[in-house]
Amino acid sequence: MKTILLTGASGQVGWELKRTLAPLGKVVTPTSRELDLSNPDSIRRVLRDVRPHLIVNPAAYTAVDKAETEIDLAMAINGVAPGILAEEAKRMHATLVHFSTDYVFDGSKPGPYRETDPANPVGSYGRSKLAGEEAIRAIGLPHLIFRTSWVYGARGKNFMRTILRLAAERDALKVVDDQVGAPTLSRMIAETTSLAIARWCPMSSNQSPLAELSGIYHLTNAGQVSWHGFACAILDEYEARREYRNWPRLMLAPHAIKPITTAEYPTPAQRPANSVLDNAKLAKAFGLEMPDWRDALQMAMDEAATLMA
Ligand SMILES: NC(=O)c1ccc[n+]([C@@H]2O[C@H](COP(=O)([O-])OP(=O)(O)OC[C@H]3O[C@@H](n4cnc5c(N)ncnc54)[C@H](OP(=O)(O)O)[C@@H]3O)[C@@H](O)[C@H]2O)c1
Repeated sequence: MKTILLTGASGQVGWELKRTLAPLGKVVTPTSRELDLSNPDSIRRVLRDVRPHLIVNPAAYTAVDKAETEIDLAMAINGVAPGILAEEAKRMHATLVHFSTDYVFDGSKPGPYRETDPANPVGSYGRSKLAGEEAIRAIGLPHLIFRTSWVYGARGKNFMRTILRLAAERDALKVVDDQVGAPTLSRMIAETTSLAIARWCPMSSNQSPLAELSGIYHLTNAGQVSWHGFACAILDEYEARREYRNWPRLMLAPHAIKPITTAEYPTPAQRPANSVLDNAKLAKAFGLEMPDWRDALQMAMDEAATLMA
């Protein structure tokens, strides 16, 4: 059985990957204390000890606003560590799967971004994630980099859970309506990633990864929506289940969420106005079609129902 080293297993995507990677090999999940991505010695020590066949790295510094002040830490974890993972993986003839972000783009393109569109991040987080992509590519080992966006799920710190919490506490809310993207369910990222890995590099054989599939892929739920539209949809889906699930009534109604502009809600980090990603390359290479964000939201809400029960 092959060994898969999975970082960030306590995070949204990592938590789901722990389950979806299990059929592909023995999954080893060091905590951030055991494998600290801000510390190159710690990375090398753990990798040389575990000697994985495959490294899957969803761990990241994900605090977009805080990254504007913790620039060095964000760069160490997101920009430098992926290069060290790649270097070590190459040394031991292992392969690497890494995750990146829609925030590598500046948002000025009118339509969905393709992998070939030039990156031009507008914030420190995006710059650190782009540096990580570039570091992996520079090492030249078999790799997959999945850029995803607006990650949420039934667990962890995310927009869906924040909106539900705020909706229970207050009867008015303002949400930005001039930034569009694709909310993407953590579980679907993990499932799609594992299916792609199985196709790229069958874990049960000694076959090398298919070289022509190495590279960057956009991997998000299909469609697009603004943060305001997403917030309203979350409350709509909650309301659709509330009575039969016996969930508490919320103080906030969907129509009471006021759309505002980015200028009316200043944050430390600038964000792209459009960060919709085109998934066509993923579909063509792996035959994997991502469901629409609204269908994914319904699944997330159904899952939340199980967790709340
Ligand atoms: N969240 C989003 O909206 C979003 C959007 C686009 C792309 N992405 C990308 O998608 C991937 C997964 O994101 P996510 O939302 O699942 O992240 P997350 O929930 O914030 O989890 C981050 C994970 O990284 C770990 N981590 C943080 N600092 C670390 C360090 N120094 N050493 C080792 N591990 C460390 C955390 O461990 P601890 O719990 O121990 O701190 C946690 O397990 C990331 O590459 C992210 O950049 C995310």
